[in-house]
Amino acid sequence: MRTPQPGLASAYVTTVRLNASDSGSVETDALVVGINTSAEGPRPAPGSEAVDGAITGGLAATLGALGFSGKVGEVAKFPTFGAIPAPVVVAVGLGDAPETPGAYDLEVLRRAAGVATRSLAGTARAALALPAATREQAEAVALGGLLGAYEFVKYRTTGEVATPVEEIAVLSGAEGAEEAVNRAAAFAESVTLVRDLVNTPPCDLPPARFAEIAEERGGKAGLSVEVLDETALKEGGYGGIMGVGQGSANPPRLVRLGYTHPEADTTVAFVGKGITFDSGGLSLKPSASMAWMKSDMGGAGAVFGALLAIARLGLRVNAVGYLCLAENMPSGTAQRPSDVLRTYAGKTVEVLDTDAEGRLVLIDGIARAGEDNPDIIVDVATLTGGQIVALGWRTSGVMANDDALREELVEVAVAQGEAAWGMPLPEELRKGLDSPIADIANLNPERSGSMLAAGIFLREFVPPGVRWAHLDIAGPAFNKEAPHGYTPKGGTGIMTRTLVALAERYQSGDRA
Ligand code: BES
Ligand code: MN
Ligand code: ZN
Repeated sequence: MRTPQPGLASAYVTTVRLNASDSGSVETDALVVGINTSAEGPRPAPGSEAVDGAITGGLAATLGALGFSGKVGEVAKFPTFGAIPAPVVVAVGLGDAPETPGAYDLEVLRRAAGVATRSLAGTARAALALPAATREQAEAVALGGLLGAYEFVKYRTTGEVATPVEEIAVLSGAEGAEEAVNRAAAFAESVTLVRDLVNTPPCDLPPARFAEIAEERGGKAGLSVEVLDETALKEGGYGGIMGVGQGSANPPRLVRLGYTHPEADTTVAFVGKGITFDSGGLSLKPSASMAWMKSDMGGAGAVFGALLAIARLGLRVNAVGYLCLAENMPSGTAQRPSDVLRTYAGKTVEVLDTDAEGRLVLIDGIARAGEDNPDIIVDVATLTGGQIVALGWRTSGVMANDDALREELVEVAVAQGEAAWGMPLPEELRKGLDSPIADIANLNPERSGSMLAAGIFLREFVPPGVRWAHLDIAGPAFNKEAPHGYTPKGGTGIMTRTLVALAERYQSGDRA
């Protein structure tokens, strides 16, 4: 156990070292091996051979005696008493061995690595001898290991909390593994930052502070950073962001992050909902529903994290990110239900419910993103309780004005292990948004299909001719339950990796 250190980003930097040597001879505090289930009991997976040979009785017998079967999610630790340099072996379940030998599912590897490193809090170094015969597998093991080694310790003062693993070595002989592990580190650094931002209490992350962090970190990463404060937003005609932000003592911000590559011929634009706290505004939420509304900036977090990773990886694409930052509070200056806003796109919106605020800040960001002439716009938002009703806590809803983009986004997300499901934008829901006095209302009072109705509302503000997709991450952004796989309790950083992986696909020369 070590004393937590102050700082915004996760307290402990985790580095990944690559070592293709015999796992049995690695100097480390804990050696992690994978175990498959089989009819005959636990069976050591590739990577564990040396350990299996070195310990008395072998892995299968040792684990069998512990009642360990190799199921996904299982983890067991035992001492090695000098049989190998590592004093502890950690066995993690990988489930049934793949039909094609060695063809491990990448998400199974990520989760197993995450379960292992999470179980090792309080240990300084871990070496992962999981199946990693290909560069993709090495990347998955590194990523899962890094993401599992996360705990938000910034606000602990006792020093009694076991701190996450600091250094992870991935053992892989695969060609290109070094590069793959670096890629994992870039992804993990961004996801860790997003989790930290989501977990930070809203008193310490008002819109202006979020914008400051974007300036600091974005500037260091080589991004151009433009911040519009409340004066600039008012003058610029950003009525959606101003309307939501006007009830708070902490004024709103719009941040534009820009990344360009000299060889790039496509531009992707990402827009994130950044409500640093959602009380509902004058349409106040019941207290129980406010409990985790500090996570209502998870979309903006994902966009910010994605831009940082895109820059760090030097992708051959132009990327812009908009963080639509505001705090939704009730007060004497707050917008009222029945107020009408004039948005950046020029359209007017009647605010029937101030708790449907995410769409109000997003439409200004989406309309502004049109000025970058993007090939695609993707917005990410903890937008509706309807997403949780329809898809549960872990599966994001994907909507779009273009079938191919929606399908591509689902495919990219699922490949990253970020569950996503395509949802429709049924035409008949549009009339529910008619307003008697403005161009459109911000919700359908009848509330049926509320995730889809929100998507239909957003679509009205997409610049003409631009392919657009919308990710509703209301449930997946924050894990209220126990940790699982590489997902901790609290902020998850969901969709950060998906946005980066999508940007990779839009690199010059990579698309037919
Ligand atoms: N931030 C919430 C959505 C949300 C709910 C996120 C639960 C995470 C967990 C959003 O601003 C909201 O309040 N949505 C309302 C909209 C309604 C008033 C149309 C909702 O979905 O209930
Ligand atoms: Mn709300
Ligand atoms: Zn909200």
